[in-house]
Amino acid sequence: MIIESSSPLDQPLSLPCGVKLKNRIAKSAMSDSLGDGAGNPTNDQITLYERWAKGGLALSIVGEVQGTPHFAEKPGNLILNNHSDWEQLERLAKAGATDNAQLWLQLGHAGAMADAPISTPKGPSALDLPGLSCGALSLSEIHALPAEFARTAHLAQKLGFGGVELHAAHGFLLNQFLSPLFNKRNDAYGGSLQNRMRLLLEVISTVRDAVVPEFPVGIKLNATDQLEGGFAEDEALDVVAALDKTNIDLIDISGGTYFPGAASSSDRAGAGPYFLDFAGLARAMTRIPLMVTGGFKTLAQAENAIGGGAADIVGLARALVIDPELPTFWLSRQRAEPPFPRFQSPPEGGVTAWYTMQITQNAKGGTPLAPEDLEGAIYAYESRDDERRRIWKSKHS
Ligand SMILES: Cc1cc2nc3c(=O)[nH]c(=O)nc-3n(C[C@H](O)[C@H](O)[C@H](O)COP(=O)(O)O)c2cc1C
Repeated sequence: MIIESSSPLDQPLSLPCGVKLKNRIAKSAMSDSLGDGAGNPTNDQITLYERWAKGGLALSIVGEVQGTPHFAEKPGNLILNNHSDWEQLERLAKAGATDNAQLWLQLGHAGAMADAPISTPKGPSALDLPGLSCGALSLSEIHALPAEFARTAHLAQKLGFGGVELHAAHGFLLNQFLSPLFNKRNDAYGGSLQNRMRLLLEVISTVRDAVVPEFPVGIKLNATDQLEGGFAEDEALDVVAALDKTNIDLIDISGGTYFPGAASSSDRAGAGPYFLDFAGLARAMTRIPLMVTGGFKTLAQAENAIGGGAADIVGLARALVIDPELPTFWLSRQRAEPPFPRFQSPPEGGVTAWYTMQITQNAKGGTPLAPEDLEGAIYAYESRDDERRRIWKSKHS
């Protein structure tokens, strides 16, 4: 006798390009910091994505994959270009697609927030603020960006990855162009929202043309930067309406930024989900499937998001770090909530650092970290990045 699962999470999802996701649980993009420092995948990273795939999720997204070494978010990022280790990348693509999961790459460019020790940060406009200083991209540099994203997407397809997600959230380059706080340009790429979203739309159409129609192209978009004067909900809804006219396959809704002093979703405590109300508004503006990421902690929250119709797929980050096998547990109703750690007054970025080091434990099969390990985790995270910066600089200068 076949027992049918009644969970709304256990239904397949067809994307506009024709790809079918096997259920409604995704691992949202995380910068796992498992690159080798030169931009290539490590064996630990390959093991980790296989573990996540075997854990039952439908879609898994590698965070912050760069097209060049010049504007990386961190020295643990992967780089995908003609100089990369294609063989190792193909192994990663295969491992992450185990058990009919999809493994996508999030195409990143950190722009103004590129890791300063290994880059010369540049965003839409020059800024000199406490903790953030950057130059402005020239018009010809902006004109070169769509083709750069497209080359990376084409290579992702060629090496066997299931799809790509354009990173337009969390304060990185494509989000910086949308944001009036970062974007003070007075040419065709600044000023009105139509101008501020021009680069994003150019990137989408150039990427779409560079891959076959059956290859999924998604986007991660902020519902709000949660910064005064930043990209806010009313404009985000206008962007969703504009995306509806493109042939994108998935809009992954998130929010917050890693701008110094601002709120980031990955450091945030408290009850979630964070962006479901916005997703309900976005739902009315588009037929494109919506992924909603941020603050999902329980099976009931995830089922309500899908059952209520605001989300088509839920994106989990920290929950899948705590419990990489969570989708299997949720779908078989064996566990409702992973045991989330609680931190006492963590410093800014500390929670994300702790989770990043827990990702390493998952990859190596090591003992899980305790909340009390916060200080040691931050130290290990920073020391490892310093070590990788040395490698990055020696390989890419
Ligand atoms: C360690 C870590 C690294 C992250 N790196 C990325 C990233 O590279 N790209 C991205 O879009 N979001 C990144 N995020 C944010 C998550 O995708 C997600 O938006 C956020 O953590 C909120 O979801 P959660 O409550 O399920 O953790 C990261 C989160 C964590 C914990």
